[in-house]
Amino acid sequence: MKKEQWGTNFGFLMAAIGSAVGLGNLWGFPYKMGKSGGFAFLVIYLVLVVLVGSVVMLGELGLGRKTGKGVMGTYLEFSKKHAWMGYMGVVSGFLILSFYCVLGGVVTRYMIGYAAQLVGAEGFAGQGADFFGYFLYSPLSMVLFYAIFMALTLTIVMGGVQKGIEKFSSIAMPALVAILVFIIIYVACQPGAVEGYKFMFKPDFSVFSNPEIGFFGVFKSAAGQMFFSLSLGMGCMMTYGSYLSKKENLQKNALIIPLADTTIALLAGCAIMPACAAFGVDFSRGPGLLFVSMQTVFENMGGFGAIIGFLFYFLVFIAALTSSISILEVCTAFQIDKDVIKGKEPNRKKISFIYAIAIFIFGLPVALDALGSGGAAIMAPFELLGLEAGGPGYAMWNDCWLDVYDLIAEGILMPIGALVMSVLIGWFWKTDIIKNECELSGKPFVGYKFYDFCFKFVVPVVMAFIFYAQLVDFFS
Ligand code: TRP
Repeated sequence: MKKEQWGTNFGFLMAAIGSAVGLGNLWGFPYKMGKSGGFAFLVIYLVLVVLVGSVVMLGELGLGRKTGKGVMGTYLEFSKKHAWMGYMGVVSGFLILSFYCVLGGVVTRYMIGYAAQLVGAEGFAGQGADFFGYFLYSPLSMVLFYAIFMALTLTIVMGGVQKGIEKFSSIAMPALVAILVFIIIYVACQPGAVEGYKFMFKPDFSVFSNPEIGFFGVFKSAAGQMFFSLSLGMGCMMTYGSYLSKKENLQKNALIIPLADTTIALLAGCAIMPACAAFGVDFSRGPGLLFVSMQTVFENMGGFGAIIGFLFYFLVFIAALTSSISILEVCTAFQIDKDVIKGKEPNRKKISFIYAIAIFIFGLPVALDALGSGGAAIMAPFELLGLEAGGPGYAMWNDCWLDVYDLIAEGILMPIGALVMSVLIGWFWKTDIIKNECELSGKPFVGYKFYDFCFKFVVPVVMAFIFYAQLVDFFS
């Protein structure tokens, strides 16, 4: 089989930025910023993107392009001993894609709800801003929308790298930016919006002296968020890099992707925070932000609520879909690599179909436990163990399957993935491996000392710290 490739560098960028820009930017970033001190969070986040994110990004893209393989194939290219890194990537894929598609399904439901309102129908079963709680306890609908979102993801991945992923992303991403800019302008014109900007941009480090969060709390939250948002640590960017032509400027691409991702996260904040401020909704309430708080905003908006609401959820829907396809692609490429090694002709359609079904089944608990609100169709982890919500031992098992999946992937597997990769690059294979790969495009490699120092020291230390902080949280 001929190796698949991106058609153009622009197409690659749209796909990679599409992977990076997702629920992490539109949901995680604003809500974590809301909970972890606004400006202080922002500053730490930006520092981490430069010192860690852009470096790991270059490492993943470089290794992927060098070998032309996905996460399994890439590590096997160096040594059989590293196969476990490949498996870790796929396990992360199972964990993340399952909860990601459950959430994508909920977003789809909200988008359809507002579309219905636009044509005068009742979109939210008469529940108004209570719809989220109501929907979580409708197992059939949850599973139905979960299945729809997974099926859309699968359809695009089945289309292949160029005709599926690249084609979809090249249309969807510009549309996303256009809608986002429109919403930001609309929100900026609402009285009271300014409080939202102040929260984001007015220097304020008081959160560091808050004993419940403190510097380390903010640091941990920003580091995990940065990682997830840039799609790092599970071989996603490695896989996308493997489809890139040797002619293209890797180093430049590895800067554009984090820059675009961070810009869009900030723009999302500039839409969401001021909207909450203008329409009397508290933005520091945590994960309910994307659904409960935003729906309240649209309800309070009056006549334009339905159209802005529809555009908003359509935007989130696009962002989520361009991300979910990149995760399914990691699993698909993993299996393609394995088939090629065995001398079998890989069948992309069949492989992605089987993985999508398997991941769908694996994610059913996430769709059915009502996010751990208790008494749902299936038991949340803490209920299974007979623990009381908030009681002893409860924190260890968190409160719902989504958190457990997320904790294992984002808190354990992905930091280890990035840690091991940067140690391999910095200490064993040496940073030259990345430098040489970058120079294939004919441009000299810039900032060798910086990258070398970051691969060797900064990335491993920050990763080890995230990992440690995660474990402390888990056992406290
Ligand atoms: N980055 C995406 C977001 O911000 C999610 C995502 C896509 C992801 N691919 C990934 C996260 C790979 C971790 C690893 O929502």
